[in-house]
Amino acid sequence: MKAVVISAPGEIEVTSVPDVSPGPREVVVAVAACGICGTDLHILEGEFAPTLPIVPGHEFAGDVVAVGSEVNEIAVGDRVAVDPSLHCGECYYCRRGRGNLCERWAAIGVSTAGGAAEFAVAPVANCVVLPEAVATADAALIEPLSCAVRGFDVLQPRMGDHFLIYGAGTMGLMMMELAKRAGAASVSMVDLNPSRLETARQLGCTATTASADELDRPRGWDNVIDCTGVVAAIEDGLGRVAPGGTFQQFGVSGEKAVARFSPYRIYNSEIRIVGSMAVLHSFERAAELFAEGVLNPEVMISDRFPLDDYPKALSQFQAGVGRKVQVQP
Ligand SMILES: NC(=O)c1ccc[n+]([C@@H]2O[C@H](COP(=O)([O-])OP(=O)(O)OC[C@H]3O[C@@H](n4cnc5c(N)ncnc54)[C@H](O)[C@@H]3O)[C@@H](O)[C@H]2O)c1
Ligand SMILES: [Zn+2]
Ligand SMILES: [Zn+2]
Repeated sequence: MKAVVISAPGEIEVTSVPDVSPGPREVVVAVAACGICGTDLHILEGEFAPTLPIVPGHEFAGDVVAVGSEVNEIAVGDRVAVDPSLHCGECYYCRRGRGNLCERWAAIGVSTAGGAAEFAVAPVANCVVLPEAVATADAALIEPLSCAVRGFDVLQPRMGDHFLIYGAGTMGLMMMELAKRAGAASVSMVDLNPSRLETARQLGCTATTASADELDRPRGWDNVIDCTGVVAAIEDGLGRVAPGGTFQQFGVSGEKAVARFSPYRIYNSEIRIVGSMAVLHSFERAAELFAEGVLNPEVMISDRFPLDDYPKALSQFQAGVGRKVQVQP
């Protein structure tokens, strides 16, 4: 079968790899679409852990074309979205219900062959069957949405909260859509890229700006979410949390990045700083939210490339052009 292979840092090719077959509790998915995100770039740059070579792609959905000998709940022909998380279920954190912090954390498309291929293997436990109304390719958005849902689980906003989101890429836009449904009184977006802000406006956010200085909210925001991973944005955002509010680090910074904040303000204004890492029991709910139309796929997905154009799709994502970029094997 045809697949994208990252063989060494910076080295990527679309090539032929051996066909896949399912283990007893696995299925084979003919990939309809696979989204590209920052994690794929990190893998290409040799930053994000795994052993190379790897077939990337952790955001995918497709048609089940083969099932293992002990799979009864999913049949050939079913359409599924795949939760890439491979929590071991046995380690200290898994046993404490924190599988996203698994000591042997692994994921399809990160540690094992992923969805940037004609076919991918997934445990049946990771598959969610799609309802009729959801187009298979669009369902590749469920994985990033499930990360945003995890973000909200940690954030725990209240009705009537004001939100400030840094970064109007796919993740920032998803956070905005969830905030609206979570009863936000307002959602403002900060980005340096005007075309990204244009999409945020189109989707109905309250205000958009290249600098939060231009926004008039002297008390600050109840929830400030970083969806950039950029230190300058993080430091700016930390200073804009309202007393009693929460700052969420959702964007991924370099491991060695350091950001400054005022410990006095954190103490004196009872500010919470929280992280959110990937998916934790949030995939199923993301799939249901998606089926209910929480996202407009026509807006969220800006480009759908053939598999052969994966390297091009990746560089386009890297250049910040468009929104969610997919390949469709
Ligand atoms: N926590 C998780 O589970 C999780 C899951 C998926 C993605 N992420 C991370 O979330 C972040 C956003 O993902 P994405 O796919 O939307 O990425 P993206 O690159 O498409 O969007 C990031 C946006 O931030 C903007 N930006 C950069 N510097 C800025 C600054 N100083 N001020 C304001 N805006 C700035 C960019 O213009 C861009 O529009 C990435 O860091 C990604 O790795 C985290
Ligand atoms: Zn991703
Ligand atoms: Zn574990």
